[in-house]
Amino acid sequence: MVGKIVGTGSYVPDTIWDNHKIAQFVETSDEWIRERTGIGKRHIAGVDTTVSMAIEAAKRAVENAITNGAIASGEEIDAIFVCAVAPEILLPAVACEVQKEVGAIHAFAYDMNAACSGFVFAYNQAVSFMNIGMIKTALIIGSEHLSRITDWTDRGSCILFGDGAGAVVVTAASGPLGMVMHSDGSGGAALVCSHDGKMKMDGQKVFRFAVKSVPECVEELMRQMKIKEEDVDYYVLHQANQRIIEAAAKRLKVSMDKIPMNIGEYGNTSSASIPILLDEMNRKGMLEGGKRIVMAGFGAGLSWGAGYVLTQ
Ligand code: UT7
Repeated sequence: MVGKIVGTGSYVPDTIWDNHKIAQFVETSDEWIRERTGIGKRHIAGVDTTVSMAIEAAKRAVENAITNGAIASGEEIDAIFVCAVAPEILLPAVACEVQKEVGAIHAFAYDMNAACSGFVFAYNQAVSFMNIGMIKTALIIGSEHLSRITDWTDRGSCILFGDGAGAVVVTAASGPLGMVMHSDGSGGAALVCSHDGKMKMDGQKVFRFAVKSVPECVEELMRQMKIKEEDVDYYVLHQANQRIIEAAAKRLKVSMDKIPMNIGEYGNTSSASIPILLDEMNRKGMLEGGKRIVMAGFGAGLSWGAGYVLTQ
């Protein structure tokens, strides 16, 4: 049993900060940011919150699943998982706030924090529940208000992050099972943030970890599933830095045609990056015709992992 994407949605705030705007706070340039990260701009939440962005993305995903004929209403959703690094509220869970807005009255709902690996971890968890017969349909959301924990005086990190939310409705389908999840707390100091503080990142350390861990976990997943490069239509990777994605493509010997990217538009939106990208692919028709997708995420923890998902 594997997950099949039947609906997607996303929401990003209207306010856009391009690289020139960032250069007003710290000594940097559009040229440096583009060359080192591939990022051109990011969306910044003003009145939006983790909850409001999650709800909007979730509503759009549920609507899309209804339009696709996959579900009749939100009542068919069995579980809701929200991944969020910096929710403004501690209680209730963001997922419960989403539940009441999408009419998922039968769903259980809770939040998870696995940083930028969150979406992949939550998806793998949903698939695990599907395989023990506990759920059939899950709504998985990444909603990140990173601008509120970004240190806007630190040019080594503030150039990267953006706000937004992405949501995906998945249903259980027959297909090959595979999942990979890893954590290494001994490397946790590379990316930290306290409750009332701002993110501190050792960019080079995270970079070195990412270029190794992303291809490794993709290879591990494909070995585990006994699938080959020709069995995968797309590799949807966490959008952290264009150079990390290109390095992973090179190591995996995969053409960039199979590795969609949107980091230029949104920056690094942590656990929201993969579902936002999946939603863009869906709107462009790229998910039509039963696609086979490998997803991989990595980030603070340290944590990294990969998952396999089908489309309608
Ligand atoms: O979602 C997971 C979380 N995070 C990540 O995935 C981040 C992974 N890391 C990265 O993406 C990269 O390490 C960064 C984009 C953060 C930094 O790029 P880098 O190529 O690793 O730069 P660096 O830290 O090695 O710095 C190179 C130089 C330094 O100057 P010197 O010492 O060579 O004179 C920095 O001071 O670039 C300087 N620098 C900058 N210059 C202009 C660092 N940040 C900036 C900046 N603008 N924003």
